[in-house]
Amino acid sequence: MRGSVEEDEFRRLWDELIPIGRAESGGYERYSWTGAELACREWFREQADRRGLKVTEDGNGNLAAWWAAPQAVDHVLTGSHFDSVPGGGAFDGPLGIASAFLAVDLLRRDGYEPRNRSIGIAAFVEEEGARFGVPCLGTRLATGALDPDAARALTDRDGTTLAAAMTEAGADPAALGPDRTLQDLACFVELHIEQGRALDDQDAPVGVATGIWPHGRWRMRFSGAGDHAGTTLLADRRDPMLTFAFAVLAARKEARLAGAHATVGRVEVHPGATNAVPDSVDAWLDVRAADEATVNLVLEGVESKVRERAGRDGTGFEIAVESFSGAVEFDPDLRERLRDVLGGVPAIPTAAGHDAGIINGHARHGTAMLFVRNPTGVSHAPREHASDADCVAGVTALAAVLKELTS
Ligand code: HGY
Ligand code: MN
Ligand code: MN
Repeated sequence: MRGSVEEDEFRRLWDELIPIGRAESGGYERYSWTGAELACREWFREQADRRGLKVTEDGNGNLAAWWAAPQAVDHVLTGSHFDSVPGGGAFDGPLGIASAFLAVDLLRRDGYEPRNRSIGIAAFVEEEGARFGVPCLGTRLATGALDPDAARALTDRDGTTLAAAMTEAGADPAALGPDRTLQDLACFVELHIEQGRALDDQDAPVGVATGIWPHGRWRMRFSGAGDHAGTTLLADRRDPMLTFAFAVLAARKEARLAGAHATVGRVEVHPGATNAVPDSVDAWLDVRAADEATVNLVLEGVESKVRERAGRDGTGFEIAVESFSGAVEFDPDLRERLRDVLGGVPAIPTAAGHDAGIINGHARHGTAMLFVRNPTGVSHAPREHASDADCVAGVTALAAVLKELTS
């Protein structure tokens, strides 16, 4: 690119977006169809309006801002998501959207106009699945990977259904379902902060993704007998908390032995009294590995060992899959083409899920991801960070990629 984006230009745009949904802790609370995410949508529309980009919204709430090409026969889509995990970082998602608007500015400054392919900037709904429990909800619906009726019935922790949340936000849940935007797609390229340290270890500000590890979420339910914390003899207890505690340690051990990653980050205890043995414990297990066979190995190991322990504790144990994303390999030709455009940047795998993983296979000429260096390696926590200079390097890389794919 002849032109450039200055760091203060990135900082000005970024400083408009990052206060939205930031909690005292510095972590983010941006959940789909809530005030913070709706405010991000407003910001998106303002950015599009400032640039004369037409905004569309599909029936799932996925937004897209369009830089139309005069002889467009199809389109290239970029963008990411606004929503966060509870207490998440500032960059996971929003960086891909902000960078896309700045990439359009840079291309225009360079005198570039897309000719045979339009450029779309997307903001996808509920990528984290933090409110309704299914990650990449917006892209799963738009690609037809998720049944709209099942989606409408999904509930958040307060029991609010997706249908009710959409209605309250002024959207029509009856419109959920497959959308042509993700079906008439030439390429999708998502820019995202790296959720690890591979680029920092290679001293590279930008990289491309090779693929996404298979990963899934399972809901575990431990049931026992509620009782008094003081008067109930230990031998008489059927304490689900014990079986739960064993399950957390078992998951860690099975993952360690298999070279996988297992996490229990969310637990709900009922009734949750300090002086009562609980009657039930719900916990969510996240398992990821380089291949699906290893994910299954960990799951089978956890399930068999926890069932055996539940037998000894006199408790009940149920486990059910809530979502699963298979292994993703991004199109190697597109990946190498983009690496050439970018001067041979590193190509790295990720164990983090993305909308690009769901869209992969729906874009006629491939799906790709660009990563921006995160020297902390931390994500899904406030410490997640990318420098302004590296974010500008990401914008410049995205602009070069969009030019390459729409020339
Ligand atoms: O959970 C993930 O891997 C992604 O950040 N949604
Ligand atoms: Mn995330
Ligand atoms: Mn993300």
